[in-house]
Amino acid sequence: MATEALPDGAVLMTPAGVIETFNGAAQRLLGLSGDDHGENLGVLIRHPDLAALINGELEEDLIEIAAPNDEDRRLEIRRIAVEADRILILARDVTQLNRLLTMRQDFIANVSHELRTPLTVIMGYLEATEDPSLDPATLRELLGKLLSPAQRMRALVDDLLLLTRLESSPALDPDQIGEVNVPNLVQRIVDDASQLSDGRHRINVNVDTQLRLRGVESELHSAFGNLVANAVRYSPEGGDIDVRWYHTDAGARFEVEDHGVGIQPEHLSRITERFYRIDLAGSRVRGGTGLGLSIVKHVLKRHDSGLAVRSEFGRGSRFYCVFPPQFSLPVSR
Ligand SMILES: Nc1ncnc2c1ncn2[C@@H]1O[C@H](COP(=O)(O)OP(=O)(O)OP(=O)(O)O)[C@@H](O)[C@H]1O
Ligand SMILES: [Mg+2]
Repeated sequence: MATEALPDGAVLMTPAGVIETFNGAAQRLLGLSGDDHGENLGVLIRHPDLAALINGELEEDLIEIAAPNDEDRRLEIRRIAVEADRILILARDVTQLNRLLTMRQDFIANVSHELRTPLTVIMGYLEATEDPSLDPATLRELLGKLLSPAQRMRALVDDLLLLTRLESSPALDPDQIGEVNVPNLVQRIVDDASQLSDGRHRINVNVDTQLRLRGVESELHSAFGNLVANAVRYSPEGGDIDVRWYHTDAGARFEVEDHGVGIQPEHLSRITERFYRIDLAGSRVRGGTGLGLSIVKHVLKRHDSGLAVRSEFGRGSRFYCVFPPQFSLPVSR
């Protein structure tokens, strides 16, 4: 059969549903076997929608059903009248496509929700400014409150744009690769983190001042900065935070260790998913948007590295990544 090369299953049959021939993909997708020639497809696969499709009773000659031999897979089945007395049934596996569509819907729902929250706050303040009896001082105070939710929206949009850019180009742009002075970068990141901490944590820095990295500085800034900001955000007051950058046999290692809330094992595999946050009921620790670690994951992947996490719930976490020797640049070691 000429359809053997098709990725879709193809079954040629009489209008009554008697199978004449089918390709390998049809065997796989529909669970047909060599003995099934001459059998009736509607009898082999008992499904009311399929029966109606074969009989040409549907308005549109297209249905979607679970695969007969695998409940978790979805098949799109199409009926085409090829000649006056032949019907072609085409089956396509749409499981992956459906998954992508669901992901896209979830993504849009998440983004909309995240933008709506600060927008609602902004609108609340703006409505309050409409009161004609407001004195100038109160008016200025109200306007001042608009900044924080607006900054939140800006940060979210920046993160989304960065993530989209990282996802759409899996490899580093050679023009952007340079020698990154990680000790210097870490210092800048820790200065920012100290602002965020506002004296509530002790941040200890331990870096090999000779060790540099080949990479894209702005991306590494986002990635390392996210890890350090998380350590601050998810540690109660008084918690020590250690930031380390050192040489190992496997390559250069960046590490952030905190003594904060920690992560339960069931969440560990999911924290790098977009918008994934752990809801700690009763905790005063508040999460962000859940994009940070997705950005970290993508940046590290582009630098031939990956994120590893060790965490104990209630005790703290250690996030680290190792850059292979060809990315690490020991300076006059
Ligand atoms: N050091 C940590 N200790 C405990 N939990 C953490 C730590 N880092 C991340 N998490 C958990 O993983 C979730 C995802 O982290 P991620 O950095 O992706 O998002 P976020 O911090 O909530 O928001 P964003 O970084 O986008 O502002 C966090 O919400 C938090 O529940
Ligand atoms: Mg974060």
